[in-house]
Amino acid sequence: MISTTFEEAISAVKKPAKITFAVVKDAEGKFNTITLEWFMRTSIKPPMLAISVGHTRYSHQCLQNFRYFNLCFPSKEMKEAARISGSRSGRDLNKINALGEEFFPGKLAKLPVFRNAAANFECEIITQVRSGDHTIFVGQVKYSWLNKDKDILLFKDL
Ligand SMILES: Cc1cc2nc3c(=O)[nH]c(=O)nc-3n(C[C@H](O)[C@H](O)[C@H](O)COP(=O)(O)O)c2cc1C
Repeated sequence: MISTTFEEAISAVKKPAKITFAVVKDAEGKFNTITLEWFMRTSIKPPMLAISVGHTRYSHQCLQNFRYFNLCFPSKEMKEAARISGSRSGRDLNKINALGEEFFPGKLAKLPVFRNAAANFECEIITQVRSGDHTIFVGQVKYSWLNKDKDILLFKDL
């Protein structure tokens, strides 16, 4: 056992990490996506999922205004979409168009659901907590979607 930096220790224990992206909506009604590594399940009944979003992200503004997010677990074939979503900002790119992915309205019909994802969860934001330079948005899962034949994209595949 050695004493080390937080970054080195936390990177060592998080593998194999999954990645997700959240679909959100801005004040003009434009959809946006943000790649997220920081997410977790937070309740059994009702089912809830939390995401941690940096204050500087355009998606943070979107989540403050429109109180829904869809959490998408991309499949391996969505690698390029996950990269674009995690490296460009919705401030200067219409990411939902740039991803080139098919989507449909879902059952809650607030935000697009990605047809080729491994899974999607349509969530309504119930509460939020400030956490340093990020905000944790806790969403109640309203509808869940699964593609049983799709392999999930892992962080190491990016
Ligand atoms: C693999 C990966 C994981 C990421 N995880 C997070 C995260 O958990 N929270 C966060 O706020 N940003 C995270 N990011 C950064 C955002 O996805 C990135 O800053 C994005 O361009 C923000 O887009 P926006 O300005 O349209 O919201 C991650 C990026 C990558 C590539």
